[in-house]
Amino acid sequence: SRTVSRNEDGAVTVGGIDVATLAEEFGTPGYFLDEADFRARCRDWREAFGPGADVFYAGKAFLSRAVVRWLHEEGLNLDVCSAGELATALSVGMPAERIAYHGNNKSVAEIERAIEAGVGRIVLDSFQEIVRVAHVAERLGKRQPVQIRVTVGVEAHTHEFIATAHEDQKFGIALAGGEAAEAVRRALKLDGLELVGIHSHIGSQIFDMAGFEVSARRVVGLLAEVRDEHGVELPEIDLGGGLGIAYTSEDDPSEPHQIAKSLHEIVGRECEAAGLRTPRISVEPGRAIVGPTAFTLYEVGTLKPLEGLRTYVSVDGGMSDNIRTALYDAEYSVALVSRTSEAEPMLVRVVGKHCESGDIVVRDAFLPADLAPGDLIAVPATGAYCRSMASNYNHALRPPVVAVADGGARVIVRRETEEDLLRLDVG
Ligand code: LLP
Repeated sequence: SRTVSRNEDGAVTVGGIDVATLAEEFGTPGYFLDEADFRARCRDWREAFGPGADVFYAGKAFLSRAVVRWLHEEGLNLDVCSAGELATALSVGMPAERIAYHGNNKSVAEIERAIEAGVGRIVLDSFQEIVRVAHVAERLGKRQPVQIRVTVGVEAHTHEFIATAHEDQKFGIALAGGEAAEAVRRALKLDGLELVGIHSHIGSQIFDMAGFEVSARRVVGLLAEVRDEHGVELPEIDLGGGLGIAYTSEDDPSEPHQIAKSLHEIVGRECEAAGLRTPRISVEPGRAIVGPTAFTLYEVGTLKPLEGLRTYVSVDGGMSDNIRTALYDAEYSVALVSRTSEAEPMLVRVVGKHCESGDIVVRDAFLPADLAPGDLIAVPATGAYCRSMASNYNHALRPPVVAVADGGARVIVRRETEEDLLRLDVG
């Protein structure tokens, strides 16, 4: 995050507050999120894409009421993919028309809820859903703006579990074989639907813009086909999210303005070649906005040195607050933040307190050899897909999210308590 530095005692501060104070006040483990950085990233994306485009923040990365308010204030729209995310957004007055509703298996109840709320668009993910959404809209006497999600058939270079544009996976309707053209044909016939555009999301944690370019080109190709067949120029395309962030010093992400420039250029060029009016572009970054804005603060517990191998450093959290290392082999860095140390670096593996050996937070890292129980260590870039994928494994209590801003800190999602856990257990 942008407001992290070290004070004269060597302790790390964020937003002007040192980590020991944060740990004392809010406890560990905890996610500490730099609100100014979050807002600045929202503005970077808005400004990069300009008034002729829309930025939908992908709520799955991390969503809370405070986040919704920030988005609203900074002029972003919101992508939700469940009734829970929708309810969170509506509960603090996010205008429904600025919300897009996603998902490969939306229930009828969810569709009803979204249409009744008046969401700005529903992204149709399958042939069955085209009919399902149309029926609900007709029953409610509405005409629902929709986009069709297509799979453009590119291989995004990322982990298999988070790549989504190849054909052999559950999302979307294939461009290949005329499937997407058939979906458009069906959607255009249904009174309950107002087909406004085509959507493509190629995957997540992607650095190479080439995949987005291929995707943009193919989506524009479909728009041209639709124009030729139906005489309709669909006014919108959404190119999804997926832009990578730096988890370690080896990652080199693009800046929003570079991304915007290349997407605007490619869409503009392709549309001109096809004789199409340039559609309104939208994107759905989640990780690129919230990921870098937060770190997880842990207290060091047990140390297990293995001669000639590495030292296992156990922290007071683990796979319940960050599943990404275990699930995707994700890489993170870690730093001693409560003090400086002149000691030699030692090879460590930062592990949690859960009952399995795969409970790894940082697979390989160096920390000072004088590391001791009670030290505070921080894992940066945990703002995306850590709290949102946190679990109660081993009845762990999910950590709080604390927003740090202007030298003050406040809890935006509180730490779970044993009462929270027991309240659900009604047996
Ligand atoms: N739009 C759609 C339709 C999506 O499915 C996603 C992410 C996004 C936008 C936002 O992608 P982002 O900009 O955040 O990469 N849990 C995984 C990531 C799963 C992403 C799922 N969809 C992880 O921790 O890496």
